[in-house]
Amino acid sequence: MLRDDSEGAVAREAAALAERLALPVLRIAEIAPDDLVLVMGPRGLELRAGDAALRNGAWVDFSARRIPAAGRPRRGHADAGQPLRRALGRRPGFVVDATAGFGDDTIALASWGHRVLAVERSPVVAELLADGLRRALADPALAELAARITLRCADATTALRALECPPDVVYIDPMFAAERTSSALPRKKIQLLRRLVGTDDDAAELVACALASGARRVVVKRSLRAEPLAGRPSASYRGKLIRYDVHVQSRK
Ligand SMILES: C[S@@+](CC[C@H](N)C(=O)[O-])C[C@H]1O[C@@H](n2cnc3c(N)ncnc32)[C@H](O)[C@@H]1O
Repeated sequence: MLRDDSEGAVAREAAALAERLALPVLRIAEIAPDDLVLVMGPRGLELRAGDAALRNGAWVDFSARRIPAAGRPRRGHADAGQPLRRALGRRPGFVVDATAGFGDDTIALASWGHRVLAVERSPVVAELLADGLRRALADPALAELAARITLRCADATTALRALECPPDVVYIDPMFAAERTSSALPRKKIQLLRRLVGTDDDAAELVACALASGARRVVVKRSLRAEPLAGRPSASYRGKLIRYDVHVQSRK
């Protein structure tokens, strides 16, 4: 946690956050290049690399999406052909985003009218999400969209087992090692996230748990050449570098 030298509300908030996360509060001179730091900046809570602690980092930003009221899918909507949107199915429903990360997909799901339970197991990442959600709820242009999102800091296997009713969809986007063959470098956000949480080597277990949750669909994001995580999918929707494997199930 980078210390803001000014006194007042921000400094107190930063100290409380550092205590919650059991992190030290540092002065700029104390930050090592290899550190990852949380900064309470003008845009909200940010994750920054230690060697770029004075530059922009990554933060959860709902404002990138300004959504039509009620977020209903519309004919001709810019996202209509988006592979993730097609993988989720047409009707808005209850979606568990089991790997919420920086929330980009969570925000997209909510913008398409779904009610979203966003689950993130890293307490640091969950704080970044909570901060973004708080800012969005306070913004009249985003409050309706943000109100469709509930955030839980937990392992999604535990969260899925605790659900009272089965979700319509479980969406899983695990962190894999950067693909050497991929022409595009991962975005800065993903690089920072990978440094913080590592790779999700237990993703197959999460997919198995999602399939056991009674969800009608389980959607798994994979790189184009990767093997499916749960046998042959019912369908796959392909983008340029990734695909979404869809496992459709009938409810018992
Ligand atoms: C590749 S990122 C997801 C990116 C996200 N879709 C977005 O749009 O920002 C994977 C995230 O899922 C989290 N994660 C992985 N397995 C999880 C699990 N079993 N339960 C909860 N979170 C998990 C990781 O901590 C990481 O933040």
